Amino acid sequence: MRSPFRICTVLIAVLVLIGALSLYAQRPLPALKMVSADSNAQTPRTQLPGHNALLMGADWYPEQWPEERWETDLRMMEAAHLDVSRIAEFAWSRMEPSEGHYDFAWLERAIRLAEKHHVAIVLGTPTAAPPAWLTQKYPETLRVEPDGQRVTHGMRAHGSVTSAKYREFCRRIAEEMAKRFGHDPNVVGWQIDNEYGYALMSYNEEARRQFQDWLKAKYKTLDALNEHWTTFYWSQTYDNWDEIPIPMGEHNPGLLLDWKHFVTYAWAGYQQNQIDAIRAHADPRQFITGNFMGYGFNGFDHYIVTKPLTLVAWDDYVGTGHLDPDANGISHDAMRGLKRENIWVIETQPGAVNWSHLNNALNKGETRAMAWHDIGHGADEVSYWQWRSALNGQEEIHGTLVGPDGKGVPLLEEVAQTAKEFADLQNAFRDTRVVSQVALLSDYDSRWAIDWQRHTEKYDQFAILKSYYHALRKLSQSMDIVSPDAPLDSYKLVVAPDLYLIPKERAAHLAAYVKNGGHLVLGPRSGMKDEFNALLPIRQPGYLAEPLGGQVEQYYAMEKAVPVNGSLGSGEASVWAEWLKTSAPDAEVLLRYGRSNGWLDGQPAVITRPYGRGRITYIGTVLDDKLMQATAEWMSKASDVTLAFGAVPDGIEASRRVGPNGAMYVLINWSAEGQSVTLPHAMQSLLEQREVTQIQLPQYGVAILSDPSKH
Ligand code: GLA
Repeated sequence: MRSPFRICTVLIAVLVLIGALSLYAQRPLPALKMVSADSNAQTPRTQLPGHNALLMGADWYPEQWPEERWETDLRMMEAAHLDVSRIAEFAWSRMEPSEGHYDFAWLERAIRLAEKHHVAIVLGTPTAAPPAWLTQKYPETLRVEPDGQRVTHGMRAHGSVTSAKYREFCRRIAEEMAKRFGHDPNVVGWQIDNEYGYALMSYNEEARRQFQDWLKAKYKTLDALNEHWTTFYWSQTYDNWDEIPIPMGEHNPGLLLDWKHFVTYAWAGYQQNQIDAIRAHADPRQFITGNFMGYGFNGFDHYIVTKPLTLVAWDDYVGTGHLDPDANGISHDAMRGLKRENIWVIETQPGAVNWSHLNNALNKGETRAMAWHDIGHGADEVSYWQWRSALNGQEEIHGTLVGPDGKGVPLLEEVAQTAKEFADLQNAFRDTRVVSQVALLSDYDSRWAIDWQRHTEKYDQFAILKSYYHALRKLSQSMDIVSPDAPLDSYKLVVAPDLYLIPKERAAHLAAYVKNGGHLVLGPRSGMKDEFNALLPIRQPGYLAEPLGGQVEQYYAMEKAVPVNGSLGSGEASVWAEWLKTSAPDAEVLLRYGRSNGWLDGQPAVITRPYGRGRITYIGTVLDDKLMQATAEWMSKASDVTLAFGAVPDGIEASRRVGPNGAMYVLINWSAEGQSVTLPHAMQSLLEQREVTQIQLPQYGVAILSDPSKH
């Protein structure tokens, strides 16, 4: 039986412990770094000289309609305050109706009419849709699927990027378009192809030979390749370059990673072929972009492929359900992080799509809120796909702004209102950018490598990234997602949720960031592999174990959640658990595992150590939401991270852009209920055109606030 005295003593002890822990958690931590949120004074490449700083548009297909209709459409666009339209990206058969015979007269007329109605044009090269005469006469231009089947005509993205013949045709059509429109005053830019983020490859001999040549150029000798891939394993040793296969399914991890690098190289080359053709004839004022597809698409390394482009544009679709500001924010921030510059949303959904498992429409007001959310995350243009759907073709029942009857659908009014707001507030947003104190690191090599060897099917890298993003965005209201090799010195806090590959040079770059006063937080699986996707012959986090003053003793895929507790609080860890060990006397244990698989019991789960002028922290497991929030609070406090705007109720998303004239805030209410927000001090509410200290926001309500005093 328990005696009341013992219960009382235990209770007092627990209370004292909780008190001590909370005092410990609240103790003042040394401010690590002073980072000024100074904006870069230059105009972002996404804001076009002579045009509104914020643009809205719709993607339009004049080739699908009788010419008599064009002016009605353009008049309607103008009335809806739309200023830009992307056209021609699937119109190859209209522009080159037969081999070598080009017809751009119709396109010229469409561009002139658009100009008359103040709609600027982005021209898409049509290479995602080669015409039937081409694929029929030159079947080698068609992709071959992994099962050996050549794709047939009638879908899109059927061309093979590694086909020399196909590239020849692509270069010619891009060149002819550029010759004709490279100096056109109403053409503001170019989009190469369409959504090559799918990164589809051809599995044929031509591609295989190119892969082998690429490997030869990289490794020089087969000995080097065999060594890095450890090919004595399972008798994989290669004695001739032409023995090396294209990987299909499971394969040697070194070969898998090199294949991805080759895919990146192939797409970058395919893109460069068209960039060169356009640049030779186009005004420098015309930008060149591609339409990428958000964080989730990792077919190739987007940092490399987007490098030669003027700006990054992406296609932002919700599909089923409603906008999740965190998930969508991650894609925006990751796309913005590719070139560390503002972005365009060159396609977004007008109400509903046609390709998801449930094509529900966004609620009334949600489309407007989403457009402002885009701006808050650094977009300078938002375009709806599409203006009006063709009367036949695979996408007839996708959402549009104009119905089959040629009249605006109900959503057009909401889009027109938002476009008017963009136009009215464009001066306030001119030269503004997102400037963040916190960065998450995202690396394509690590993403691929973990996904090939997940070790537990519960290891969901996106869910892990999102848990950090959610917790830290609440505490900063502004996040960047960048490459681990990007300059990091402007950040107070840099978090790498699962940076699996940390080769020597990368480790030195990260260690230098810490030495200079940054706080680097590494998540589970960090620093296990080198750049060849081979295990490092040092314990995790590899070359960063020394600065950390600790290492991973062993890792475990978890069958179920286990308790963890310490100065950051208590809760559960799941999915993945690493038994950490400290070696440096100044390394501190912040969380320990409770009773678990025996190996982990009582062992460190989170450790931290001051290093140089900064700090390095290792989180060896996946924390539950509450503990993640507490850990994020500790991280941001330890790094002196401050809110970009100020305290807001749950459900309100606050974003900030900074420019030479101060800060612009975008506040959006994503919760189902109306919310009241008290401002940190009086600001100008630009949509209401008055000074405010408090605002009321209904569901999907938006406030745009300006604070010239903040930079
Ligand atoms: C993509 C494509 C468009 C269209 C839309 C439909 O974004 O680029 O051509 O198919 O999807 O949602």
